[in-house]
Amino acid sequence: MATLALKGGIPVCTAGWPRYPTLGAEEEAAAVRVVRSHNLSAQFGEEVRAFEAEFAAYLGSEHAIAVCNGTAALHTALAAAGVGAGDEVIVPPYTFVATATSVLLQNAIPVFVDIEPRTQGLDPRAVAERITPRTRAIIPVHMNGYPMEIEALMEVARQRNLVVIEDCSHAHGAMVGERKVGTFGQINAFSCQQKKNLSLGEGGLVVTNDAGLAARARGFHSFSAAPLSTNYRLPELHGAIGRVRLSQLDAHNDARIRNARYLDEALFGLPGIQAQRPRPGTKAVYYNYILHIDPEVLGFDKQTFVKALRAEGIPASGGYSPVHRDALFKQRNAYGRGCPFTCPFYAPTEAERPRYDDEAFPVVEELCRSRNVELKIHPPAGPEEMADVATAVRKVVEARAELAA
Ligand SMILES: Cc1ncc(COP(=O)(O)O)c(C=O)c1O
Repeated sequence: MATLALKGGIPVCTAGWPRYPTLGAEEEAAAVRVVRSHNLSAQFGEEVRAFEAEFAAYLGSEHAIAVCNGTAALHTALAAAGVGAGDEVIVPPYTFVATATSVLLQNAIPVFVDIEPRTQGLDPRAVAERITPRTRAIIPVHMNGYPMEIEALMEVARQRNLVVIEDCSHAHGAMVGERKVGTFGQINAFSCQQKKNLSLGEGGLVVTNDAGLAARARGFHSFSAAPLSTNYRLPELHGAIGRVRLSQLDAHNDARIRNARYLDEALFGLPGIQAQRPRPGTKAVYYNYILHIDPEVLGFDKQTFVKALRAEGIPASGGYSPVHRDALFKQRNAYGRGCPFTCPFYAPTEAERPRYDDEAFPVVEELCRSRNVELKIHPPAGPEEMADVATAVRKVVEARAELAA
């Protein structure tokens, strides 16, 4: 048995991990085109407009509005949907913090609801039970690029007349049946931050089929909606590069899917390890590849597993932390004087107050503490890197008795 790198052995991967994103001649040409146009603002150019039209066509949506980041996309969607003071918005605690803080930016209250373990997205049945007269919207997240149960959630929302804003920041190009995610909710948001499948360094998109919501979103992001609007515009340079990155998105997603299939096969049957499988009938795009580990079978904890893989040169991580544990929610104070939690327009009964205590959401707690491990499988990583991942995982699992001791 090979000695673990953690115990002084030779690491499986010593070459370093491929960088992401890789930018080439096409992106360079797009940047040069913008420079030569002597215009850097979307207000006066064609690139961002074209990027919006091309993204809307890619998704199968009527309207797309490009914004400066994913948080701005969520905020714009909430503002366009009319969410505001005294409203509750249901969000999962397993996500990046911006899903919840965007709600605070619109002066509304995030209400966490636990996830269901298979897709690790909001549990539609738990959502149905948590709706109150103040619930105005729901923000489901397709975590790590695995589509959540969006059809069931849309049915819950339809029955209660609620707005759904899909947070598709991990899921550009993911599908449910023949339909892309980001076309189910009434108005939906994407991040194009550096690490995302559609990477612009910084950027975001709001999409909708509703002309009224589109007009309000467009106004809000560019200082022309009443009563309040702002400047969340995407710069022209990002629009031009976004068009190139969008033209490569399907090929990049296919590379992620090939890498995922490789690992699915290579890791199958290892004790204490199970790869997360996409829901049948859906296409996952693997923003991260998720392993579920069983510490009882392995004899050591998730943190040790991650440390051992990293020592082998594999970029593994323990993934997201539960958002409801963030200090912001402990202090219930977003704006310095308790607002919006103490807003006079917000007066739930004690039983209806949102829970922000540590152990409130057992599924999320358990998977963040003990089970989920994230692996990076983005291109240009390919079979060689995936072989290293598989070798390293096998090496760590085979050394479990030693690690347990
Ligand atoms: C699920 C999710 N939502 C929203 C965001 C916010 O996007 P941004 O970082 O572009 O503001 C992120 C980002 O990183 C995210 O992972």
